[in-house]
Amino acid sequence: MPGDKSVSHRAVLLGAVNDGPVAVKGFLRSADTLATVAAARALGVQVDEQDDSLVVHGRGWDGLREPENVIDVANSGTLIRLLPGLIASRDMLCVLTGDASIRRRPMARVLEPLTAMGATVAGRRGNTLPPVAVRGGALRGISHTLAVASAQVKSCILLAGLRAAGETVVTEPAPSRDHTERMIRFAGGRVEREEIAAGAGVIRVWPVDSLLMGMLAVPGDFSSAAFFVVAAILVPDSEISITDVGLNPTRTGLLKVLERMGAAVEVKMGGEAGPEPVGSVTSRTCELSATDVDATEVPSLIDELPLFLLAAAKAKGVSRLRGAAELRAKESDRLRSMAALLRALGGKVVEYPDGMDVEGDPRGWDGGSIVAEADHRLAMVGAIAGAASRDGVLVDDVGCMTVSYPGFTKTVVELGGSWNAVSATGGRPAAAS
Ligand code: S3P
Repeated sequence: MPGDKSVSHRAVLLGAVNDGPVAVKGFLRSADTLATVAAARALGVQVDEQDDSLVVHGRGWDGLREPENVIDVANSGTLIRLLPGLIASRDMLCVLTGDASIRRRPMARVLEPLTAMGATVAGRRGNTLPPVAVRGGALRGISHTLAVASAQVKSCILLAGLRAAGETVVTEPAPSRDHTERMIRFAGGRVEREEIAAGAGVIRVWPVDSLLMGMLAVPGDFSSAAFFVVAAILVPDSEISITDVGLNPTRTGLLKVLERMGAAVEVKMGGEAGPEPVGSVTSRTCELSATDVDATEVPSLIDELPLFLLAAAKAKGVSRLRGAAELRAKESDRLRSMAALLRALGGKVVEYPDGMDVEGDPRGWDGGSIVAEADHRLAMVGAIAGAASRDGVLVDDVGCMTVSYPGFTKTVVELGGSWNAVSATGGRPAAAS
């Protein structure tokens, strides 16, 4: 699998303020993470690239330079949420913007706590949307409760907390991915999590003078692997094994959900890549039964919920997803776009403000034509739906897959899938079967 996107972003961001160079192995070279490399360079940090290896020549916070121009995060929600926290303690102006989808993503959730910490920040539409401007300042620790579990918001505050006076405390209603916490510890910083109620937790971080990482290995991306875990289950007579993939328990909620659906999935834990646990996952074709997913579980499979909904469309019974309104604030409104995708395959779905009911049909679907809305995960779900279909599925845009998984179409072919390019003009739409 290609390198983990979340860990790759963090490797460059924490690498940029590291005390000296960090060698990053297994870095994901995708549109999103290369935007983070460009942002680090704009802040005066030298980054050497060779295939999936990077050397990030960290300069410590004091070595960061005011960017000469606006930073373009492209399609990356993680970059536009984490970078303001990383630089909030620096006395410089940094303006961030991105593509049309980014300019619709809510930003008050990070700008408000940064303001409370003492940074001067601004954003379009009353400080709610990008572009955003951060003019840093002397920070103080705060205690902040997240309205919705979000690793991006939590990480922003924790990164600012590394340079704030006193302790910074973030309370989350359910466990969200903890890559930032693990990497801070790996680099010698102090961060602790205390469970306060079923799932809810309090994370504390203390200021550091410097971070010290020498080498950092990035695991394979579980979210990328998830497409093929589900493909093997849905495509007749399949078995796929994926090795060296990140198995951080805050990321692998899909495996538990698939297990409840009766899926044949084997997991073998097998060591570590830097601060992250890794292992292998094998899945094979099987019948599925419906299950429910609620708010507590949602963060552990937030990016895999579209795949869960696709699997639910082939399961026996009605699956219910609730407490997932956050999906409306992703690269597309993933509740609306997934409801449209499943209906395009002939699926029966009822959309709710915070979720969906999917009435599955174990016979699967013939095919259809789906609209990805320039959302990489929607496009790849459409392709897996095509591989599992009888006649193929037309995906209107395969170019957007480069956001997280540039080699996706090739891997589909290597596993026995096929693509028919249906457009002579650039070959962007394609049918997967
Ligand atoms: C991410 C966190 C998730 C996820 C996103 C990457 C991260 O968002 O959807 O793709 O790297 O921190 P939230 O946890 O903020 O919902």
